[in-house]
Amino acid sequence: MQRYSIALLPGDGIGQEVVAAARRVLEAAGERFALRFDFKPYDWGSDYYFQHGVMMPVDALQRLREHDALLLGAVGHPDIPDHITLHGMLLPIRRGLDLYANVRPAVLFQGVNSPLKGYAAGSIDLVVVRENTEGEYAPVGGFVHHHHPAEVAVQTAVFTRQGCERVIRYAFDLAGRRGGKRLVSSITKSNAQSYGMVLWDRVFREIAAEYPGIRTESLLVDAAAMDFVRRPSEFDVVVASNLFGDILSDIAAIVTGSIGLAASANLDPGKRNPSLFEPVHGSAPDIAGRGIANPLATILAAAMMLEHLGLDEAASAVDGSVRAALASGAALTPDLGGSATTASATAAVIANLG
Ligand code: NAD
Ligand code: IPM
Ligand code: MN
Repeated sequence: MQRYSIALLPGDGIGQEVVAAARRVLEAAGERFALRFDFKPYDWGSDYYFQHGVMMPVDALQRLREHDALLLGAVGHPDIPDHITLHGMLLPIRRGLDLYANVRPAVLFQGVNSPLKGYAAGSIDLVVVRENTEGEYAPVGGFVHHHHPAEVAVQTAVFTRQGCERVIRYAFDLAGRRGGKRLVSSITKSNAQSYGMVLWDRVFREIAAEYPGIRTESLLVDAAAMDFVRRPSEFDVVVASNLFGDILSDIAAIVTGSIGLAASANLDPGKRNPSLFEPVHGSAPDIAGRGIANPLATILAAAMMLEHLGLDEAASAVDGSVRAALASGAALTPDLGGSATTASATAAVIANLG
């Protein structure tokens, strides 16, 4: 029997509920496909912070490196400033493990309504590839005259040639593998951000020349935000900087029904480090603890994890079970206009796994 060591990082709020749900689905998939998952739960996050003054221990990355893959829920607590929680846990993991490709698919599934009129199931099927280690999220900057009337804050975006090249190349390779529209859309704001994003645009043109079979377009982010609403079905692979990819992936999520369906993979494509799988959404304090969080984003992230581990059959079984549970109406939680609970939606997915 093949064995896999999986770190569970449920974190905060609904992260606890959706990771527990995804674990049950992985266990069911393990039984069906004769795979053994050794889950190691970590209690890092905001409760850990209240006890220890840090979100995770100093040797956290070292410990995470020992696993085959990592599954995370969400980070963020209403009583702790977000820059402390997120710079104490999620962002250092993405950077520390060099998980440079953040892959965020958005598909309009059968049984799910888009808030946009006239889109049939499957007619929106795109993936945002977000640069995940630098750009606007680089921890570069500081305060001068901190908390004094003359206070100044400096926040610097960092774009490296290597950082642009590798994520753009990942996007082109993905467009080739998907074999769909074979289109890569690059998103910047190089009319205003005249250094980092000018470098990005130049690197994009250079890499594009290596892929003559793939069409390209370069959009400014304001127009791209409009086009995600105006013509979402025309996109295939969209590659963007850290911040722009973050924003566009929430738009992609809502035009395909709900943020509760949006899965993501934070990948080290070279597999030197374990990759991290998580829903796109946050800790949702407004619904936490009520048993109504949509678990499907995290379950779909678990399917991406199976695929990354090379377990294609199990991955497509989980993905297919989610699609069937949505199509039957059994997994429509309140965010999708239904009355399923976290537990009943999860049970519907597991039932379809057979
Ligand atoms: P959020 O994604 O937590 O919630 C936005 C809205 O979507 C809320 O109305 C929420 O109820 C709803 N929602 C989110 N996930 C859902 C699900 N699975 N099922 C049903 N409804 C769902 O974003 P926010 O409110 O801006 O942020 C809350 C906290 O989470 C903040 O502390 C923020 O920093 C953090 N955050 C963390 C991550 C992460 O860990 N990856 C991502 C986004 C936000
Ligand atoms: C996400 C989140 C995070 C991000 C925040 C919480 C730092 O919004 O994963 O989309 O911007 O990366
Ligand atoms: Mn986000």
